[in-house]
Amino acid sequence: MADEPLVLGIETSCDETGVGIVRGHTLLADAVASSVDEHARFGGVVPEVASRAHLEAMVPTIQRALKEAGVAASDLDGIAVTAGPGLAGALLVGVSAAKAYAYALGKPLYGVNHLASHICVDQLEHGPLPEPTMALLVSGGHSSLLLAPDITADVRPLGSTIDDAAGEAFDKIARVLNLGFPGGPVIDRIAREGNPDAIAFPRGLTGPRDAAYDFSFSGLKTAVARWIEAKRAAGEEVPVADVSASFQEAVVDVLTRKAVRACKDEGVEHLMIGGGVAANSRLRAMAERRCEDAGITLRVPRPKLCTDNGAMVAALGAEMVARGRSASAWDLSADSSLPVTDPHVPDPDADGDADGHPHSHTHSHDHVHELSRKNLYA
Ligand code: KG4
Ligand code: ZN
Repeated sequence: MADEPLVLGIETSCDETGVGIVRGHTLLADAVASSVDEHARFGGVVPEVASRAHLEAMVPTIQRALKEAGVAASDLDGIAVTAGPGLAGALLVGVSAAKAYAYALGKPLYGVNHLASHICVDQLEHGPLPEPTMALLVSGGHSSLLLAPDITADVRPLGSTIDDAAGEAFDKIARVLNLGFPGGPVIDRIAREGNPDAIAFPRGLTGPRDAAYDFSFSGLKTAVARWIEAKRAAGEEVPVADVSASFQEAVVDVLTRKAVRACKDEGVEHLMIGGGVAANSRLRAMAERRCEDAGITLRVPRPKLCTDNGAMVAALGAEMVARGRSASAWDLSADSSLPVTDPHVPDPDADGDADGHPHSHTHSHDHVHELSRKNLYA
């Protein structure tokens, strides 16, 4: 509908320069320039390389998105940008660009949360998010279970990883198997040829006394690496497909089991899965089966919307505009550890959001910890 907010979103938290344009819940453009090839030889994202690549890709990607959407920049109702969490230098490029465009065009600026964006993007595929929605957020830097009564103002963390993120585990195991970077897509593909029950790898934090909604993948990663080492030391060939399938099964089993349990415990009927790992075909299949068995409606965006992109930022920005949330101040800064409980960064001098929601500004060190593991040099 023409009266729905038209918003451009900019995402630069990691190695993808994403620019998306949405009108309400409709996707009009999704332009992504990735620097992933430039990081591959390092086996992980190098922050300085990512920042420079964002700088070079920014203007052409914005122009490409506007052209793809067939809209003029002057028609926009707002510019949204990932304010955090993410790599500080990379975020800064997006925030600076968003400010420049918003200021020059005289449009409101919305600094939004990367994690809430990963959830909100599903509106572009499956329509308005049910309230509340349970979200399993699984990416290279995060693995969390979040209860979202209102994605623009109220996101509550139920649990998260105490060590590695799920995507990080995929990337590390791929490295041990010499499969390249990023590891998720290649393990997903190779696992299809393997037997998921070939090797019984450990399921972290699934004991009766363990935290119900927290995750741990570090023990699994070590177990898989040791298993591979032992094979190599014995001069035996490593069955790459079986190892990939069995490792992937262990990750996906724990993720889906805990997500379904959280839905049941909280009485929530809708589960959304977002973030790069949500592109995993086995995760999607197992979640579908377990949700069906539990009477839960599953929502997973198509793979291209699961990995980092600008459309997700635009989707959350459009929701902020639609709900009358206050815009960000011109001195908006990138916050590498922006807590998931802050879906956006409102102007501190504004009267508050339309519904008067308070905003927490406590910074979670978990985020810093998870993100610092994401790059090689931290
Ligand atoms: O959300 P994302 O694009 O970036 C972050 O915000 O971290 O997630 C990237 C992560 C990487 O660790 C990558 O290996 C993983 O998502 N990933 C996958 C798949 N596609 C991407 N993991 C498992 N299976 C996949 N098909
Ligand atoms: Zn992400």
